[in-house]
Order: sequence, then structure tokens, then C-alpha cells
Amino acid sequence: MLPRISTVRAGSLPRDPRTPRKRQQRWAAAFVTVAAIAIAIVVMTSSHSHKWPEAVRPATFVGDSTCLSCHGEKASFEGTAHRITTQSPSRATILGSFTSGENVLRNANSDLHFRMDADSTGFYQTAVFAHGADSTSRRERIAIVAGSGRGGQSYLYWKGDRLYQLPVSYWSSNHRWINSPGPAYIEGQANFARGVAPRCLECHATWIEAVPDLSHENTFQAQGAILGITCERCHGEGKTHVATEQSPLHSLHSPQIVNPAHLTRERQMEACAQCHGGLGTPKIPSFTYVAGQRLDNYVDLPVPGPNETVDVHGNKVALLERSRCFRESKMTCTTCHDVHRTQRDTTALSGRCLTCHQEQSCGLFATRGRAAVAGRCVTCHMPEQSSNLIVSALEGEKKQAQMRNHWIKVYPETANR
Ligand code: HEC
Ligand code: HEC
Ligand code: HEC
Ligand code: HEC
Ligand code: HEC
Ligand code: HEC
Ligand code: HEC
Repeated sequence: MLPRISTVRAGSLPRDPRTPRKRQQRWAAAFVTVAAIAIAIVVMTSSHSHKWPEAVRPATFVGDSTCLSCHGEKASFEGTAHRITTQSPSRATILGSFTSGENVLRNANSDLHFRMDADSTGFYQTAVFAHGADSTSRRERIAIVAGSGRGGQSYLYWKGDRLYQLPVSYWSSNHRWINSPGPAYIEGQANFARGVAPRCLECHATWIEAVPDLSHENTFQAQGAILGITCERCHGEGKTHVATEQSPLHSLHSPQIVNPAHLTRERQMEACAQCHGGLGTPKIPSFTYVAGQRLDNYVDLPVPGPNETVDVHGNKVALLERSRCFRESKMTCTTCHDVHRTQRDTTALSGRCLTCHQEQSCGLFATRGRAAVAGRCVTCHMPEQSSNLIVSALEGEKKQAQMRNHWIKVYPETANR
């Protein structure tokens, strides 16, 4: 077969390529080739631009300072609770005191106390059992500071490649060391054995590599961890976006980064629910979900029954969804919150209510007048309440974290506030 074809082709090839007709054919062939290559490039790049941004990894992480070199208006993000929710230990990041006299936590068990101290090698928590000459102790080094300190901080330590929580935390409202919250920490005992699951850092960090280990889910690869919630934790990896925006052809491409504002309402809620929708049960490894995808493919979140109490800590989404405001409007979390800046002024936030309501629509307006309601909507309709999940035992007392109930409704007990 082959020789025959080549014979035929050879026979039909022009002897003199410089005749005008043959030149035209060559130009046409060259044009077709160039056009084919151009079409191939367009097809390849457009299929590329339909790819959804991936979850960030050390190899695709550009970091907030790179993002801010073009998006300087988002610089206020760097001071938010999200950004500093996990940090490396330092005098500045650990809010508890190492000063002698303030660095000891005593409790109901007089045979146990904790001491926090710092030297050139790091910051330590030591549990001291019994007194005087018989005393024994256990000392561990703080490796990760968890919590911005809005309410408090907890501290994590490494034992080999396993990560554990330390028994002493910090409580901001009275500026002191306290027993770590939760049922794992019983006053008078020193529990160093509470392992830190990947989901903990999925809510509090940008990335850490969990090492699959069926018997110890707290096994990680410490190197390459990216602490704090950074831009790319919510927006997806930035490397492709930055390369796209720096390319001379950038106007031909989609930005290759997630803008949650462009998602459907349900996907927008899920972008926050991955961390504010309750603990849930992961279906696949942590740090794989990217805003814009269906969250239920990644984690099974609790769906509280209609009469089930939902704690003010943890599941803001379920509480908000119970509100008539939410059910009878297109409200999302970003109706009130701009996550790129710190907003704790409840007077300013009460202004958000007035994008849908009027002061006059409050039942108290008619009887008690404008002054009773103006700028105070949040005080009564999203009251601050105690969490039953973040509870610390101290000196026989229970210390409960305070949070805003996101179920917006009439709380009759607030009428006289
Ligand atoms: C080289 C400059 C540059 C850098 C660096 C950069 N961006 Fe952008 N970004 C842009 C430009 C320009 C646009 C507008 C693109 C458009 O509308 O086509 C944009 C758009 C966006 C959008 C909106 C996308 C949309 O679809 O509406 C988001 C979100 C975003 N950037 C986030 C980030 C994040 C996060 C980082 C860091 C990982 C980052 N950017 C780094 C230049 C940059
Ligand atoms: C499902 C997501 C999620 C998981 C898992 C999670 N947290 Fe949190 N954590 C939050 C959210 C959200 C807040 C803010 C309070 C709120 O909205 O309830 C918070 C608050 C905190 C605070 C208080 C911060 C402050 O300054 O007020 C500390 C400390 C903390 N978490 C530590 C941990 C540790 C340590 C773990 C794991 C052992 C953990 N959390 C697991 C989401 C999570
Ligand atoms: C906790 C999640 C979260 C983090 C972290 C975050 N963003 Fe956003 N970002 C959002 C959401 C939600 C929107 C859409 C609603 C809005 O604009 O507030 C958005 C919108 C944007 C937009 C497009 C709309 C606009 O306002 O121009 C840009 C650009 C952007 N973010 C950049 C950044 C940069 C840069 C950082 C880090 C310095 C960052 N974001 C950190 C959630 C986040
Ligand atoms: C990766 C997990 C994560 C995502 C995604 C996330 N959050 Fe958070 N958020 C947290 C944690 C953890 C805290 C507690 C931080 C602390 O105080 O240490 C927090 C705190 C907050 C706070 C309190 C800020 C303050 O000043 O104290 C607000 C408001 C908030 N988140 C809103 C949102 C909204 C709205 C979204 C969706 C656009 C969102 N978050 C997405 C984990 C997340
Ligand atoms: C995005 C629009 C929107 C925002 C923002 C909003 N609401 Fe509403 N709210 C509604 C709608 C719609 C209803 C149901 C119809 C009505 O009562 O007007 C409602 C109902 C209510 C009710 C009656 C609840 C019940 O169970 O009967 C109260 C109280 C209320 N809102 C207070 C507030 C407060 C306080 C804020 C601010 C913290 C707020 N709303 C923010 C839209 C909104
Ligand atoms: C109608 C307005 C409104 C909406 C919508 C809203 N929040 Fe809030 N949020 C507030 C107010 C007001 C506060 C109290 C501000 C403060 O003390 O920092 C608050 C506080 C918070 C806090 C700090 C912890 C606490 O409870 O005191 C977190 C976390 C938070 N919101 C997350 C969310 C998430 C996630 C969504 C969406 C499910 C959401 N919020 C929707 C008004 C709103
Ligand atoms: C001092 C506490 C308090 C403050 C402040 C307050 N409210 Fe109210 N609000 C109430 C109480 C209590 C009721 C129920 C009154 C009744 O039914 O007579 C109510 C009723 C309402 C209702 C009607 C609910 C229904 O039955 O349909 C709306 C809407 C509302 N408030 C919105 C607001 C807005 C918006 C603000 C801020 C401008 C505000 N409230 C400030 C306590 C308060």
C-alpha cells in the first residue's frame, strides 16, 4: 500500500514550486495551518477557563501580600479574626501572661497546678502534680495558637507528627488562663491526650497536610502548613489567577478565581457553612472543598429538627435559616457581613436591618418611641446568649462563651432592654 500511495503523490507533486498557482496553494496551506493552530489554542484555553479553581496547596499558594499588591482595598482583611485564627506562638500572639504571679492556673485539685513559662526556646505549659519534693511534672511546648482572642485562645502541641490540644486555654473577658473548654477537660485533671482532627484546622487554617492513619486522625505533615484563614482559603488557589491577570492576553480569559458574589444563594451560604454550619462528618479528606461546589459532596452537616435547640456557637447557618427574615427574602451572610473587614459595632450592624425594615415596623416604636429602638435592633432581635458548647470549668463555676443568636425574631424577654 505505502509505496503505491507515495508513487501517486510523487507523481502529482509540482516540479516547479515557483509557478504563481502553486504559490497561492502554499499560502492557502500556510493559512489553514495557522488558523488550525489558532483555533486549537482558543479551544484549549477556553476549556481551561471553564475549569473551576482548585483548593489551595503550598505549590499554588501566592499569599495575601501578592493578592493585596493588586487588591489593596482589601488590606483591612489582615486584621480580622479570620486571618489570625491560627498563628505561630510569640509574645504578641499568645494573649495569656507569662509574668510571674500571673502565669499559674490553680484549681479545685490542690495537688495539681499549671504553669506557663517562656524562654529563648519557646513557650510552654507545665502541669505540676503534688507538692514539694515529690512533685512530678509534664511540660509541652506551644506549637500553634488557635483563636483570634475575640473570646479566647487554645493552644496545640506536637508529639512527633501528632497534634494535640493543651489543657490550659485563655479567656479574654477576664484576661486569664483557664481550663480548656469542653467535656474532655475536667477541672482538677491534666488532659494532654485530646487529639486535633483535620476538621479543626480545616475551620481554622488555610492548609495542613493530614497523613492518613486509621488509628490516629491527628497525624499531620507539619511542614508546609499555612496558618490563619487567608484570601485563598475562600477564593481558591491564586497562582492561576495571578498568572492570568499578569498575562498580556488577560482580557481574553475569565479571572480563574472564585467570586462568591457571583454564586447562587445556596452556594453562597455553603461557602460560609463549610465552617459556620456545625462540626459535621467529613465525607472526603479535609481542605478539598472550594466555594462554588456542592458542600454536601464533602461534608455531612447536621440538620437540626424544627424543635431542636441549636447552640449559638457553631451553627450560625441553621439559626439564620430559621428566621422569617431569611425565609422571606434573599438574605445571605453577606447581607450584613463584609468578611474583608472587622465589624463589631452593633449600632452600625443594626443599620443593615433598615435595608429591609423601617424603625416604625418595630412593635415598640409606637409605644416607646424612636429612641428605644433606633440603632439597637440587634440588641433585642439577635440577643447575646451563652453557649452550652464552649464551657470551661473554673473554681467550681461554669464559664460560658457569649454569642449573638442568629435566629432573628422577637425575644419577649428583651422588651424592656
Ligand atoms: C496582578 C494583579 C492581581 C493579583 C496579584 C491578584 N488579582 Fe485578583 N483580580 C485582578 C484583576 C485585574 C481582576 C479583575 C478581572 C476581571 O474582572 O476580569 C481581579 C479579580 C479578582 C476577583 C473577582 C473575580 C470575578 O470573577 O469577579 C477576585 C475574587 C480576586 N481577584 C481575588 C484575588 C485573590 C484572592 C488574589 C490573591 C490570591 C488576587 N486576586 C491576586 C488582579 C489581580
Ligand atoms: C466546623 C468548624 C470548626 C471546627 C471543627 C472547630 N472550630 Fe473553633 N471555631 C469555629 C468558629 C466558627 C468559631 C467562632 C465562634 C462561633 O461562630 O461559634 C470558633 C471559635 C473558636 C475559638 C474561640 C476564638 C475566639 O477568639 O473567640 C477557639 C479557641 C477555637 N475555636 C478553637 C478550636 C479548636 C482548637 C478546634 C479543634 C480542636 C476547633 N476550634 C474546631 C469553627 C470551628
Ligand atoms: C472568609 C472568606 C473570605 C476571605 C478570607 C476573603 N474573601 Fe474576598 N470575598 C469573599 C466573599 C463572600 C465575597 C463576595 C461578597 C463580598 O464582596 O463581600 C468576596 C469578594 C471578593 C472580591 C470581589 C468583589 C470585590 O469586592 O471586589 C475580591 C477582589 C476579593 N474578595 C479579594 C479578597 C482578598 C484580596 C482577600 C485577602 C486579603 C480576600 N478576598 C479574603 C470572601 C472572602
Ligand atoms: C475556613 C473556615 C471559615 C470560612 C470559610 C468562613 N469562616 Fe467565618 N470564622 C471562622 C472562624 C474559625 C472564626 C473564628 C475566628 C476567631 O475568632 O478565632 C470565624 C469568625 C467569623 C466572624 C466573626 C468575626 C469577628 O470579628 O469576630 C464572622 C462575622 C464570620 N466569621 C463570618 C463569615 C462569613 C460571612 C463567611 C462566608 C462568607 C465566613 N465567615 C466563612 C471560620 C470560617
Ligand atoms: C434582606 C431583608 C431583611 C433584612 C436585612 C432583615 N430582615 Fe427582618 N424580615 C424580613 C422579612 C421579609 C420578614 C418577614 C416579613 C415582615 O415581617 O416584614 C422579616 C421579619 C422580621 C421580624 C419578625 C420575625 C418573626 O418571627 O415574626 C423581625 C423581628 C425582624 N425581621 C427583625 C429584623 C432585624 C432586627 C434585622 C437586622 C438584624 C432584620 N430583621 C434584617 C427581611 C429582612
Ligand atoms: C441580619 C444581619 C446578620 C446576618 C444576615 C448574619 N449576621 Fe453574623 N452577626 C450579626 C451581628 C449583629 C453580629 C454581632 C457583631 C459582633 O458582636 O461582632 C454578628 C456576629 C457574628 C459572628 C461572631 C460571633 C457571634 O455570634 O457573636 C459570627 C461568627 C457570625 N456573625 C457569622 C455569621 C454567618 C456565618 C452568617 C450567615 C449564616 C451571618 N453571620 C449572618 C449580624 C448578622
Ligand atoms: C428594646 C428591644 C427592642 C429593640 C431595640 C427593637 N425591637 Fe423590634 N421588637 C421588640 C419586641 C419586644 C417586639 C414585639 C412587640 C409587640 O409585638 O408588641 C418587636 C417587634 C418587631 C417587629 C415586628 C415583629 C412582628 O410581630 O411581625 C419588627 C419587624 C421589629 N421589631 C424590627 C425591629 C427593628 C428593625 C429594630 C431596630 C430599628 C427593632 N425592632 C428594635 C423589641 C425590640
